[in-house]
Amino acid sequence: MAEKQVPEHIGIIMDGNGRWAKKRLLPRVMGHSQGAKALDNLLNSAKGLGVKHITVYAFSTENWKRAEDEVSGIMGILREYINKYFREYADSDFRVDSIGDLSRLSPDLQRDIAQLKEASKDKTGIHLTIAMNYGGRDEIKRAVRKIAEEVKAGILQPEDITEELISAHLDSAPTPDPELIIRTSGELRTSNFLIWQGAYAEYYITDKLWPDFTIDDFKLAIDSYCKRDRRFGGRNEEKK
Ligand code: IPE
Ligand code: IPE
Ligand code: MG
Repeated sequence: MAEKQVPEHIGIIMDGNGRWAKKRLLPRVMGHSQGAKALDNLLNSAKGLGVKHITVYAFSTENWKRAEDEVSGIMGILREYINKYFREYADSDFRVDSIGDLSRLSPDLQRDIAQLKEASKDKTGIHLTIAMNYGGRDEIKRAVRKIAEEVKAGILQPEDITEELISAHLDSAPTPDPELIIRTSGELRTSNFLIWQGAYAEYYITDKLWPDFTIDDFKLAIDSYCKRDRRFGGRNEEKK
C-alpha cells in the first residue's frame, strides 16, 4: 500500500448484521453484537495504516422504524461499547466523537458519550466518529437552522453563506470530508450517510456482511481506492 495515498478519512456503512444473524437462525440483535465486535477488532488492527479518521454508521434516523426490541438491543450494545471505551481510555489512544442528533437518545447514554468524548479529546491515535441517530438530511437541516439563527441575529449576512460555512455548521466539523466510503453487504445506496461530506467520496461496496468484515477486507478497500483515478469533474491531465 502506498502510504501517501491512503485516505485520511474513511466512512463505513456497517450493513448486514441482520442477514448475518438470519443465516445462522439467530436473533437479529446477535448480529448487532457480532457487528460491534467486528468494529472493535478492526479498530485495533487499523492502527499504523495511516488512516486518521474513521466514521462509522451505527444507527440512522430511519432505524427507529425497526421493532422495539431490536432498537433497544442496538442501544444496549452502543452503551456497552461506549462504557468499555471509557474504562479503557487511559490505556488507549483513540479519540472518540459522535455525529447525529443525540437528543433523542436516553439521557444516560448521552451522558456516557459526552464523558467519553471529553476524556479522549486529546488522544492522538485514530479519531473514531460514531454516527448515532444520524441522517445526512437531518444534519443539514440542523446546520441550516443554526445558520438561519445567526442571520437573524445579524452575526451573518446571507451572502456569507458559502459551502465552507455550511460544512463548518455540520456535526462533523472540523473533520475533513471522507475520501472513501465502504459499504458492506452489497447494497448500492448511501442510506443518508454523509451525503454532503461524501459528495466526491469514492465508494467501495463489498458483499461481505459487516460481522464478517476484517482488516484484510479493509486493506482491500484501501488498495482499491489507491488505484482509482479521482478527477473531481476535471480531466486527467489537469489533475493536481
Ligand atoms: C446494519 O445491519 C446495522 C444497523 C442498521 C443498525 P442491518 O440490521 O441493517 O442488517 P441487514 O441489512 O438487515 O442485514
Ligand atoms: C444503514 O443501513 C444504516 C446503518 C448501517 C446504521 P440500513 O440497513 O438501515 O439501510 P437501508 O435500509 O438498507 O437503506
Ligand atoms: Mg441493513
